[in-house]
Amino acid sequence: MKSSGLRKKFLDFFKANGHVIIPGASLIPVNDPTVLFTTAGMHPLVPFLIGEKHPSGKRLADVQKCIRTGDIDSVGDSWHLTFFEMLGNWSLGDYWKKEAINWSFEFLTGRKYLNIPIEKLNITIFAGDSDAPKDEESTAIWQQLGIPDERIYFLPKEDNWWGPAGQTGPCGPCTEIFYDTGKEKCDLSCRPGCSCGKYAEIWNDVFMEFNKTKEGKYEPLKQKNVDTGMGVERTTAVLNGHNNIYETELFLPIIKKIEELAEIKYQSQPLNYRVIADHLKAATFILSENIEPSNIERGYVLRRLIRRAIRHGRKIGIKNVFTFKIVEPVIDIYKDIYPELKKNKDFIEEQLVREEEKFNKTLERGLKEFENIQTSGVISGQDSFNLYQTYGFPIEMTEELAKEKNLEVDLDGFKKELEKHQNLSRTATAGVFKGGMADAGLETTKLHTAAHLMLAGLRKVLGEDVIQKGSNITAERLRFDFSYKEKMTPEQIKKVEDFVNEAIKKDLSVKYEEMTLYRAKEIGAMGVFDSKYGQAVKVYIISEGDEILSREICGGPHVEKTGILGCFKIQKEESSSAGVRRIKAVLE
Ligand code: ALA
Repeated sequence: MKSSGLRKKFLDFFKANGHVIIPGASLIPVNDPTVLFTTAGMHPLVPFLIGEKHPSGKRLADVQKCIRTGDIDSVGDSWHLTFFEMLGNWSLGDYWKKEAINWSFEFLTGRKYLNIPIEKLNITIFAGDSDAPKDEESTAIWQQLGIPDERIYFLPKEDNWWGPAGQTGPCGPCTEIFYDTGKEKCDLSCRPGCSCGKYAEIWNDVFMEFNKTKEGKYEPLKQKNVDTGMGVERTTAVLNGHNNIYETELFLPIIKKIEELAEIKYQSQPLNYRVIADHLKAATFILSENIEPSNIERGYVLRRLIRRAIRHGRKIGIKNVFTFKIVEPVIDIYKDIYPELKKNKDFIEEQLVREEEKFNKTLERGLKEFENIQTSGVISGQDSFNLYQTYGFPIEMTEELAKEKNLEVDLDGFKKELEKHQNLSRTATAGVFKGGMADAGLETTKLHTAAHLMLAGLRKVLGEDVIQKGSNITAERLRFDFSYKEKMTPEQIKKVEDFVNEAIKKDLSVKYEEMTLYRAKEIGAMGVFDSKYGQAVKVYIISEGDEILSREICGGPHVEKTGILGCFKIQKEESSSAGVRRIKAVLE
């Protein structure tokens, strides 16, 4: 069975069991500023796990794309990936352990479904600790289903507890299902969870009945939920008799493409190939969400993935710019499921070329510099910072290079150097671009409301892809960055000005409503936000009759009526950075 068959069978099975199929969410979490990427299917569902009513009901199923960077060092073994897809079924305060485990078992072993022999299944269960008791209920269910005791393992929280996805939130004990590949045990202590590759975790049933608080306490949730996750890549591999994920159709075309470009074949150096394939697939997906390589947050993860792939490319003899060539096979694999890849193909390829060209300029020299570092076993903070700052080596790359030579890196020293540098550059730019409003005076507030109208105008004139990238508003002028690839024409600028001035002439009311962040996103409010899900946010609305001109999540302040704004004028439109334009505008 191919992955497409697996996805369909899974969704059909849960649909037949009363679940509503919901679309997967973005890789960028909308509900949790503490996490950079969606790491599991439960992530977008957090508000509903803590009690909010889901519009599609209490039983849901979906396919969710995920990025996990925690496992990056394991990538290249048989089973770990940075980007993967998770099949999930949920009970939001509806069914509980019996149904969840029975369905997992039926789907895995049922002749009409995956038809996996029971002997292949090994189960792990939460062993219990001071926060929650041993999971006897799940144990009894698995035993009744015919899993013998010698294939049931009781493990502590670090193995059999899931969540929260961020630092706080819903979580609970889980029972995991491992497929035995038939490989010999690596030693006597080999068991599910061992990294030797004998056991592949293919499905996890989490029983979310706790909420982890800021203080680290586990309190009962209002409702008991089931959160499950089945790995598409791993399950596809075992169903087809492969003992690793790279031999599935989700990777083979990428590996083949890399073979065309490299001097050394996959069979001789599979690890390098696997890292390249995994990292560039993940990078392609991240780029498809309009994230660009940078030195912070998501952009940094992206940069690290691309640069690591480039270094591994050099190891198998790829000399030319190549990362962009992997985009096509990735799109081809996923074109029917993730149209955002194809839609953003040009952008993805451009960004890869740009990043690779940039890194190529310093990679060789950086490697030489690395070789020349004098150490007595530990690479100093200053040296690792120099590699980072001058040669663009992500610190993790320096660590990896160091490990290959049995050296260590003084990470604290690196952090100190980084902070020193960041403080310096913050001082240098302080007062130049502070982001947001300089003050809450009337003139600044008027320009703030004008900025909302202008964004609405830009989206109307240039298209819905336009999103705000930053703003800086003083009493004299507004400066506004937004995503758009080309220079605006004078006609387009005029149209945006007219749109804003029309709204001013009509003296429309500027109102706000308070709602949960989820609700705000659901009704399509624009906005950058750092609020927690479930917490109320303000949504500022400017409408004309039934027609909503602007709807943005925003803390304010704004004027009450647009009429007092005066006359809006765009003074300048220029490039700010790759794919981002900057407007300077005033009210006269
Ligand atoms: N949230 C669970 C996991 O990611 C299902 O394993």
